[in-house]
Amino acid sequence: MHNQHIHSITIIGAGTMGNGIAHVCAMAGFPVKLMDNSEEQLRIALQTIEKNLTRMAEKQKIKPIEVGSSLARIQTYTDVKQAISEADMVLEVVPEQLSLKKQIWSQIEQGIDPKRLKQTIFATNTSSISISELAEGVTHPENMIGMHFFNPVPVMSLVEIILGNKTSEQTFKTVESLTRELGKTPIRVHDFPGFVSNRILMPMINEAIYALHEGVAEKEAIDQVMTLGMAHPMGPLRLADFIGLDVCLNIMNVLYKGFQDAKYTPCPLLREMVDKGHLGNKTGQGFYIYEV
Ligand code: 3HC
Repeated sequence: MHNQHIHSITIIGAGTMGNGIAHVCAMAGFPVKLMDNSEEQLRIALQTIEKNLTRMAEKQKIKPIEVGSSLARIQTYTDVKQAISEADMVLEVVPEQLSLKKQIWSQIEQGIDPKRLKQTIFATNTSSISISELAEGVTHPENMIGMHFFNPVPVMSLVEIILGNKTSEQTFKTVESLTRELGKTPIRVHDFPGFVSNRILMPMINEAIYALHEGVAEKEAIDQVMTLGMAHPMGPLRLADFIGLDVCLNIMNVLYKGFQDAKYTPCPLLREMVDKGHLGNKTGQGFYIYEV
């Protein structure tokens, strides 16, 4: 079913997830406005999208002409107000901190043409933060929804869709059909800390870090146990580097605060790595070393 409502999409945040989502939306034929307050980040995002589209063309996943036509659908902005004008959906993809997300949503709310406010869908790519809590700060909470993508976005078919306590069925149905138009599979979950994905994944990653911290085995061995024994495509420590150790710590903190349960206490080694700025792939060093 073609969604009747969303024709143009604005993405706020051009990091790893933001550029992946822009790639997928543009490839599916949607005009995309990609906003970030850093020109450099926008440049890197477009470069990454072009590289990933070209790789897909080389592997005959898309026609070569689609590389250019997809890129041509993406416009970049450093100003929120300009980026959100005429958007049918605004998708926020900023770092996993409640205060930052609330600040961005209040900027978006103020920047939208009041005549469009009632019809614009507010979606957040949060990986663990309560949709209901984020929706408390907007005029139309019925239009706010969680659209949780997975890294690398062009490859992972899941989009976890989370309804806040005021999200309308109409908003869900529109976003569900948009998700399918993007070539992804929408899975509906309720608004609990970490939803389903990170309620299960992050404690597993945190336990792998505890195993390393307590000397149960070396990092390569811990990862090999899960790739050879459980057929994971990458081990939990390498996956943590891939996701970003700061993201992993933010999510563990959301689980700990949300459930008030010591079992979600982030491993001290995770905190230590983040404090040292060793965030994984994006900084060139996490549990492993990477070319940046
Ligand atoms: N962007 C786009 N495409 C990519 C990519 C990237 N960063 N990395 C790999 N790919 C594509 C390759 O082009 C290749 O495509 P093909 O199948 O058409 O040839 C395919 O993915 C496989 O890539 P490679 O052969 O280079 O390497 P791997 O086989 O090792 O796959 C991987 C890489 C897809 C990242 C795989 O290791 C994997 O699936 N890892 C698990 C990732 C995962 O669990 N993601 C979810 C994290 S949780 C999350 O994101 C939620 C958040 O809230 C924390």
